[in-house]
Amino acid sequence: MYRTHTCNDLSASQIGKTVMLAGWVRSRRDHGGMIFIDLRDRYGITQVVSDPQNASESHTVFEQVRSEYVIQVEGVVRARPEGMKNSNHASGEIEVLANKVTILNEAKTPPFPLDTDEAITNEELRLKYRYLDLRRDRMKRNVVMRHNVIKYIRDYMSDDGFLEIETPILIKGTPEGSREYVVPSRLHPGTFYVLPQSPQQLKQLSMVAGLDKYFQIARCFRDEDQRGDRQPEFTQLDVEMSFVDEEDVMSLNEGLMIKLCEAMVPHKKLLSKPFPRMTWHHAMSTYGSDKPDIRFGMEFIDGTEIFKNSGFKVFAQASEKGVVKMLHVTGGAVFPRSKIDEMEALAKVYGAKGLAYIVAQNGELKSPILKFLTEGEIAAIKEKTGIKDGDVVFFAADEFVTACTSLGHVRLACGDYFKLRDQNVFAFLWVTDFPMFEWSKEDNCLSAAHHPFCSIKIEDLPLLEKEPLKARAKAYDFVLNGCEVGGGSIRIHKREVQSKIFDILGISEEDAQRRFGHMLEAFTYGAPPHGGIAWGLDRLVMIFCDEPNIREVIVFPKDQKARDLMLDAPSVMPEKQIRELHIKVVEQK
Ligand code: AMO
Ligand code: AMP
Repeated sequence: MYRTHTCNDLSASQIGKTVMLAGWVRSRRDHGGMIFIDLRDRYGITQVVSDPQNASESHTVFEQVRSEYVIQVEGVVRARPEGMKNSNHASGEIEVLANKVTILNEAKTPPFPLDTDEAITNEELRLKYRYLDLRRDRMKRNVVMRHNVIKYIRDYMSDDGFLEIETPILIKGTPEGSREYVVPSRLHPGTFYVLPQSPQQLKQLSMVAGLDKYFQIARCFRDEDQRGDRQPEFTQLDVEMSFVDEEDVMSLNEGLMIKLCEAMVPHKKLLSKPFPRMTWHHAMSTYGSDKPDIRFGMEFIDGTEIFKNSGFKVFAQASEKGVVKMLHVTGGAVFPRSKIDEMEALAKVYGAKGLAYIVAQNGELKSPILKFLTEGEIAAIKEKTGIKDGDVVFFAADEFVTACTSLGHVRLACGDYFKLRDQNVFAFLWVTDFPMFEWSKEDNCLSAAHHPFCSIKIEDLPLLEKEPLKARAKAYDFVLNGCEVGGGSIRIHKREVQSKIFDILGISEEDAQRRFGHMLEAFTYGAPPHGGIAWGLDRLVMIFCDEPNIREVIVFPKDQKARDLMLDAPSVMPEKQIRELHIKVVEQK
């Protein structure tokens, strides 16, 4: 062994003892005579001192070492002089007086500082040298948190009788709404595997197999545009259970989540237990989001009724065909004019045609739209919102989803502006009763809002024929502080129902057979009622670690263009390998 101790396990009780440490030189300070090194390993930092009077040979080595050299130090633990103690480190009371120092490896100067928790702006550089980036304390803390979270989940699920089952990575397509990563087969020319977007079908098939309670820490692959909380490759806690309804799945997951938070982030305050539940419609209608941040109020007020016959045409039309939603921002009148314009621009990003507003100042209402409104309408706005001096009310008038979504983003921006999104509070909730289908403007057809295996609320089955967009799925999302940290559903377990859904989605019988024949057939061999959920583990750990994006909690993540900058992937393949795969690369012009 190169060491007898690690850098965090020395304390005053070992004073006088000879020890051996090995690690990296975090910093070196030459005090003309004495040289001090902060030695770092995975566990912490220990100060090592070389005194030329004590050991001249080691002192010569101390003079040579530079930051990030790997060294081994043998020496004696001694108390630091009063006034030199450092309470920031576990080993801050002591230091090691070196007798013998060996350089195990030299190091070039790192391309960015490693001894700081500050955000380093050049992310490309960090990702290229991720193995250096990970030496930073902050990154190490994230790696440890991730490990602890996964271990806790594994123990909890196992104790509850769940089996951890590994499902394959080379599979046939899974429809989760994203583009798939495709792997050409060498042995079967012209055919392809697909990397799983999630183990959805395999976990359902495990239920048909009678495996009853399944979980997996599962890697998922989605070839989609990148954002801060998305990666092409990410990890889910994937769960599936037989003979359950929504209540069973939600209460199991809620129980685990509460225990996990108490164990991992005891300093965060859970806003409410049990977690509130809200239908999708209520969440959209009140917060303008299917993943509302309920750490603050600022709930929408419905103004649709007020403007039914309004002289302001935009409002009147929306009242007929959609909604008029109002957002009352207390103190919003302190917004500079430019802020109001910013809010309008933001609303437009999410499809709004405009963002009307009324400001209350010096006992007066001010707004470009007042001239269009009757006294009755103004009185109704005042009454419904309670607008008072210093406030602003924003209006979104459009069809339901556009009006709500755009105003929802304005609400969040106001929450940020007034610092209402308390980092120390964890506001969980369940969003339920999602629509089963949505209209895809891109493809001009119905698509599954979640995935096509969700079952439908019994009372909504009659809607499938004529008004499928109104049918609600037995689906639920797990939301934390405005982030979707999980989602699942009770599944279809009958062949004819599954075929019906494929039919509504415009998938022909032949196509359904080709793509999902295995599922349809499995359902004819006694599939039990079943349901489950998947948590986005990266997102959860990101929030636990107070990090702004999931790359910070993935040890080797992809960049925002889905590249691995460290390994330089994706990369060009040798011609021979391409030929073996029976594929041809088309030159990009
Ligand atoms: P869904 O597609 O909602 O459901 O995914 C479940 C959770 O995974 C996280 N997530 C992501 N995290 C990082 N990067 C991504 N690209 C990404 N995409 C999703 C989210 C999300 O809530 N098979 C279903 C689950 C089920 O029905 O049981 C599924 O995958 O936090
Ligand atoms: P205009 O008469 O088009 O200048 O609009 C007057 C005000 O109404 C402006 O502040 C617009 O931003 C706002 N507005 C326009 N369309 C909408 C809409 N659909 N919802 C809310 N406000 C709107």
